[in-house]
Amino acid sequence: MSNVHTFQMNERVGETRLDRDVQGVIGKGIDRFEGPLKVSGRATYAYEHKLPGRVAYGFIVTSGVGSAKIVGIDPMRALSKAGVLDVVIDDRAVRAAADAGDPQPARVGGEITHFGQPICLVVAETFEAARDAAKLVDVTSEARAGLYDLQSEQANAYDPGDGIMPSVIEKGDFDKAFAASEVTLDATYTTPSQSHSAMEPHASIASWEGEKLTLYGSYQLIQVNVGQLAKALGVDKANVEIVSPYIGGGFGGKLGIGPEAVYAAIAAKTLGRPVKVALTRAQVYQTTSRRSDTIQRIRIGASREGVIEAIAHDTITANTKEDAFFEPAGISTVFLYGGANRQVTHKKADVNVLLSSAMRAPGEAVGMLALENAMDELAEQLGIGPIALRKLNEPEVDPQEGLPFSSRMLIECMDEGAARFGWSDAPVKPGAKREGEWLIGHGMSTASRKNMLMKSSARVTLSAEGTAHVETDMTDIGTGTYTILQQIAAEMLGLPAEKVTVELGHSTLPPSAGSGGSWGASSAGSSVYVACEGIIEKIAESLGVSPSDLTLKDGTAIGGNKQTAFADILKGEPIVVTGTFKPGKAYKETHQASYGAHFCEVRVNAVTGETRVKRLLTVAAAGRILNEKTATSQCYGGQIFGIGSALMEELIIDPRTGLMVNHDLAEYHVPVNADVPQLEVVLLPERDTAASPLASKGIGELAISGVGAAITNAIYDATGVRVRDYPMTLDKVLAGWATKGKAS
Ligand code: MOS
Repeated sequence: MSNVHTFQMNERVGETRLDRDVQGVIGKGIDRFEGPLKVSGRATYAYEHKLPGRVAYGFIVTSGVGSAKIVGIDPMRALSKAGVLDVVIDDRAVRAAADAGDPQPARVGGEITHFGQPICLVVAETFEAARDAAKLVDVTSEARAGLYDLQSEQANAYDPGDGIMPSVIEKGDFDKAFAASEVTLDATYTTPSQSHSAMEPHASIASWEGEKLTLYGSYQLIQVNVGQLAKALGVDKANVEIVSPYIGGGFGGKLGIGPEAVYAAIAAKTLGRPVKVALTRAQVYQTTSRRSDTIQRIRIGASREGVIEAIAHDTITANTKEDAFFEPAGISTVFLYGGANRQVTHKKADVNVLLSSAMRAPGEAVGMLALENAMDELAEQLGIGPIALRKLNEPEVDPQEGLPFSSRMLIECMDEGAARFGWSDAPVKPGAKREGEWLIGHGMSTASRKNMLMKSSARVTLSAEGTAHVETDMTDIGTGTYTILQQIAAEMLGLPAEKVTVELGHSTLPPSAGSGGSWGASSAGSSVYVACEGIIEKIAESLGVSPSDLTLKDGTAIGGNKQTAFADILKGEPIVVTGTFKPGKAYKETHQASYGAHFCEVRVNAVTGETRVKRLLTVAAAGRILNEKTATSQCYGGQIFGIGSALMEELIIDPRTGLMVNHDLAEYHVPVNADVPQLEVVLLPERDTAASPLASKGIGELAISGVGAAITNAIYDATGVRVRDYPMTLDKVLAGWATKGKAS
């Protein structure tokens, strides 16, 4: 028997089986069951799938100029090399979608719009032959003037229209209220271009059987990716299958189909052989996508007591002319603090630089670097503590729309963090603490991340042997999806976790929300929950009891005054239910976000200006925690990302040529072990019953939001140098001392 069960979240959920926790599996920090496969090299990543037939290898030729018109592509020298099979010149792959939006194949045709843009693919018997011949493709082009610098283009920035949030959100009369405020802050913050820098480079293997394409790749959103690839190739979606069981990090960089997939598919079709295409590390940097640099002006007007009356966050970000996406940098300012008069705006400047797109916590990650830095500046100006200022401006309801918060534990996060960290909320007095040549500083910031939910489906099979199998095309990008879905099914069905297997990452499985926007765990997890509810109904029916009178534990059903083994209920026949979760009215009628607080201690060298992060504590409240260990691990990742954004991460684009200068992990600095102190993460118990049947909210992106501001606020406390231009490299500390005089 196969059944379909659908649940739309129109109101808050009451007590659930997860609350009763009879099996004792949900929330526990159990190990990822696929972990041993990953650490022993047995998990098969995109480039590693073994296919029958002789595989050919492709190498992408990319543009070495930033803005030009292609006049000619001569493949003859490349084709004459031994082992070279083909040079694919096909505009369909020039610019496949790098984002989750509409596919954008080939619409640039002949125009080079950024450095690193794909031009053609050389296919050969070996990777080395393809790479070698790629240097022999003769590309001639006419140079065009290019726009490579957001700072110089900001005067030409324009309202791009609504994107993943409205470009303009206003309430009251900001200008008037700001002008009338007793205390005002007006500061502009800048953040640089950033790269996702996932460990696994983008790679694809394409293989055709007649009209049917199978693509092995590394993707976050399989259903979307199938549609993008089909559209790029001009084939029917039904003929495209994507396999992506393991993903070596995504962070937004694998939300969309990349050029390597489209090229591999075209080449494989032409040659009648499977074709593998991997990007080099430099190509991952130059050819996929980035996070835009930002210019963010924050203005806050407050009473002398510290009550905000006016708040504005005006942002300018960059993208290519053809791409509408803008970094929603003002998103947290919409709901984080009170104030009757509000303005959040987003403008976009067109540049000839690699597509800018979503990267971990698009919006909050860079927006809160500005907002939370500004709040620290305002607290100092008012002479009150940073937490005191935030408490004074804690809104009762969402300050923009007036919607009730689904749940909000911002103050609890700050209080818990302050107590654990030993935070003194005295007004900021920079430069007061010193040990030898190290200046010591403490800083805090809040964290917030809008909660998102998506429709998602999963099939759960309960077998007569007392095992369960979960199937969905959901992905695990390193977040722990495999394990939390296992835990949800185990808790719901009353099975030990090891009796539940989970299969993900294949487009033939029920369509899921995929991994993006921190919606994955709640959305896909809820679909598993819904499927299990369907199974429980069937069990209840066969026992003649109501589902609410049924307790499931250790492979037995307890109800109607007896305990029955699943084997005796199922009698050899599995129960199969496909569950679908849909967000509903509960999502629209409440304002949903996760919250947190970060506390940091830094030491800044009084001679060199070098910053070392000494302690970092994050307290987060994101609804029910589905797995203590994987959620904590997500937060560690966010904290480390935050250290990078505060101190080192920065893509350098040559303003003369558009060249992305630091296109590898040696030159694009991310925190390494020596940069990361002992991290501390505390997850507060919370149930958000309006968010999902699991009462969980997103956490992966919450954890990065605000971290960098806590660090730079601590740098200010240590040195008296205020960071408004991220990242805070030591030269900026030294320059600050040079102009203002050293704090101590
Ligand atoms: Mo996320 S930046 O939507 O992977």
